[in-house]
Amino acid sequence: MRVLILGGTGSIGSAVLREVVRRGHTSYAVVRSRESATKVIGLGAAPIAGDIGDPSRWLATLPQVDAVVQMACDFNSPMEQVERRLLDGLLPHLALQGNQPKFIYTGGCWLFGTTGDDIATEETPLRPLHAFAWMVPHLQWTLESPGISPIVIHPAMVYEAGGGVFSRFIEDARKRRVVRVVGGEEVRWPLVHRDDLANLYLLALERGLPRRSYIGATIEGLPVGRIARAVARKFRIRKLSPEIISADLIAEELGSWARGYAIDQQVSGEKARRELGWKPLHLDPESEIISWQGY
Ligand SMILES: NC(=O)c1ccc[n+]([C@@H]2O[C@H](COP(=O)([O-])OP(=O)(O)OC[C@H]3O[C@@H](n4cnc5c(N)ncnc54)[C@H](OP(=O)(O)O)[C@@H]3O)[C@@H](O)[C@H]2O)c1
Repeated sequence: MRVLILGGTGSIGSAVLREVVRRGHTSYAVVRSRESATKVIGLGAAPIAGDIGDPSRWLATLPQVDAVVQMACDFNSPMEQVERRLLDGLLPHLALQGNQPKFIYTGGCWLFGTTGDDIATEETPLRPLHAFAWMVPHLQWTLESPGISPIVIHPAMVYEAGGGVFSRFIEDARKRRVVRVVGGEEVRWPLVHRDDLANLYLLALERGLPRRSYIGATIEGLPVGRIARAVARKFRIRKLSPEIISADLIAEELGSWARGYAIDQQVSGEKARRELGWKPLHLDPESEIISWQGY
C-alpha cells in the first residue's frame, strides 16, 4: 500500500510510521520543518513539505495513495481551524482519486468523558472534554464522507519507555522529587503502549472495514496513583505517595486540554481484539516502569 502519514514525527505517528515501513508499505509523510523531514527520512518515509492547515500546496504534488493516517495535532495552534482546512481539502481530493482510499482519523479516549465505574465502548455516546469538542463533528464528517473508506481510532492514553503520558511524572520525579497527580490517586486512566497502538493502526489499514470506530485500549482503567507510585519507586523517591493537584492548576500550567488528566474513565479495546484480531503485548505498565533501562 502507499500510505500518507500526517503527524509522523509525533508520539503515536512515529510508531505507526515505523510499523508501516516494517510491513513493507510505501510511506509519505507531510512535514512542516527540515528537522521533521530528517526524522521521517530516518524512519523510512519520503517527506512532503507542508502544513496540514494548508493542504492545497502539498496535495498538488501528492502521488495517488491507498491510505492516509491523520495523527497530526498541535495544542499550541487553533487545531479546530487547522484540521477543518485539512479535511476540507484532503477528503474531496481522496474521493476524486477513485480508488476509495482508507482514511484513518485519530480521536481519543478523552472524547468519552468521565465514565466512573462504567466501561465505555465504541457505542457509548461521546461526551468530550470542552477543549476537544471540535473533534466530534470532525470525526462524524470523516465517517460520512463519500468516496473514501474512513475508520476512526480512539487511542487510550499512550505510553512508551521513559515517555508518552508518563513524561510529566518523570519530569516531576527528576525536578521536584515528588510525582504530582491531577484530581486524586483513584482517578482511572485507560492505557496503551504505543507499539501496541501502532499495531492496531496497521490492522485497521490492512483489514479494517470502512465506517468503523475502534478504541485502542489495552488497560481499561488503571488508578493513576499506582502509576505515580511506580515512577516514584523507579526514581528512588522516598515519599512514594503523590502530591494531588487540581485540574485548574494543571490547566494553568499546560492549557485547558490538560484537564483531561483528571478524567476518571474506563474504556474497552475489546472490539478491536474481536474484529481485527488485535493482540496487545504490553499488559503491565507498572512492571514495565520499574524495569525501564537507562532511566
Ligand atoms: N498521546 C496520547 O496519549 C493520545 C491519546 C489519545 C489521542 N491522542 C491524539 O492523537 C493525536 C496524536 O497525538 P500525539 O501524542 O502523537 O501528538 P504529538 O506527539 O504532539 O505529535 C503531533 C504531530 O503532529 C505534527 N503536526 C502538528 N501540527 C502540524 C501541522 N500544522 N502540520 C503538519 N504537521 C503537524 C507534529 O509535527 P512536528 O514534527 O512539526 O512537530 C507531530 O508529528 C492527537 O490528535 C491526539 O489528541 C493522543
